[in-house]
Amino acid sequence: MSDIFKRQAAEAAMAELRPGMRLGLGTGSTARHFVDLLGARVAEGFACLCIPTSEQTAAQARSLGIPLTDLDATPELDLTVDGADEIGPGLSLIKGGGGALLREKIVAAASSRMVVIADMSKVVPALGAFPLPVEVNRFGLEATRRAVAAVLHAIAPGGALSLRQGAGGQPFETDGGHLILDASFGRISDPEAVSRALLDIPGVVQHGLFIGLASKAYIAGPDGLVTYEG
Ligand code: A5P
Repeated sequence: MSDIFKRQAAEAAMAELRPGMRLGLGTGSTARHFVDLLGARVAEGFACLCIPTSEQTAAQARSLGIPLTDLDATPELDLTVDGADEIGPGLSLIKGGGGALLREKIVAAASSRMVVIADMSKVVPALGAFPLPVEVNRFGLEATRRAVAAVLHAIAPGGALSLRQGAGGQPFETDGGHLILDASFGRISDPEAVSRALLDIPGVVQHGLFIGLASKAYIAGPDGLVTYEG
């Protein structure tokens, strides 16, 4: 059922498209719907230039004939459309459930606007029920893990921290070759403070808190489509 809502949210976001746009393409099952719909528009002659936020999205976009570029050639984008794991107050987000948070954040930050698409289950009164993905360098993993645990336990004394596992019993590796620690805070009442504390740790590459990046969200659910503007 939620997949129908994801599709509806993606369809609604098509209204944001203008010919010639430079677009950031998100990652995940909801963004996949958007890329699918965009591919159909491109096949009809819609002009755009896109930057994917993961190898997975790049492969999908290529298969649909969507013109791709990169941030070196095109450092400024008009719009990024992406999913989210949680949507909290003020369109603050947790992202990275699919492991693409670093490229997603770089692309969103390079965009004039970020629009979120999601089903209603992603909307929460406070962020943190979904474990926060923290992307870390492989070098010094144990030292970094302890430092992240200290931040987590200062806020959520019983909070769990786990190294994300991938296929074949190996740690999950991001497109950038890093690892992910998933931090279960329970409730993040001050996302800015958590962000600062995590980014102060040298081995932390990035985290999945997106604060002040999204300006609009299309959310679909059993009661229809809702639009939030931040
Ligand atoms: C990818 O790393 C994530 O940030 C996704 O955008 C997020 O996990 C939402 O994914 P779904 O659309 O599959 O729920």
